[in-house]
Amino acid sequence: MTLRTLHLLGSPVLRQRSPEIAAVDDELRAFIADLFETMDAARGVGLAANQVGVARRVAVVSADGNRFAMINPVIVESSGRDTAEEGCLSIPDIFADVTRPDRVVLEALGADGQPFRLEAEGLTARAIQHELDHLDGILFLDHLGPIKRKMLLARWKKEHRDDPSYLKQVTPEAAQTE
Ligand code: NI
Repeated sequence: MTLRTLHLLGSPVLRQRSPEIAAVDDELRAFIADLFETMDAARGVGLAANQVGVARRVAVVSADGNRFAMINPVIVESSGRDTAEEGCLSIPDIFADVTRPDRVVLEALGADGQPFRLEAEGLTARAIQHELDHLDGILFLDHLGPIKRKMLLARWKKEHRDDPSYLKQVTPEAAQTE
């Protein structure tokens, strides 16, 4: 397995719609293993392929004891409404309250290539929606009102003015000390 480099806000791949995956094969499974490893090292609850610079329709989630890969994911039902703080591995140190449905039904392929259906609520439902947004080129900041969004983008720009690379290395050491 390989720790992948995170792409940060400003990297164009985060704003693209990731195309569907045609075949679940060993190469894809190895990539999914990398996604899990990178998410864990960065202490995230989810990670989408384009966050490591790869425009493919797959993401991983690890929240509230639910841990799964979702290939070509679709939300087929959603209900309720909940507001909670969100962050994103692609926008480090920026957090904001985001309102979303609090229950979703997900349909996707798993890493074994088999379709599955998952009813989720709470943090898991939030993570699924956040990662699915990534695959459509949407970031959590896009769910905020224009004033809040502008303020957070200005803070982000200020904090990253000395580092315009839009890339961040993830290391196991950093994960243990952060
Ligand atoms: Ni994110």
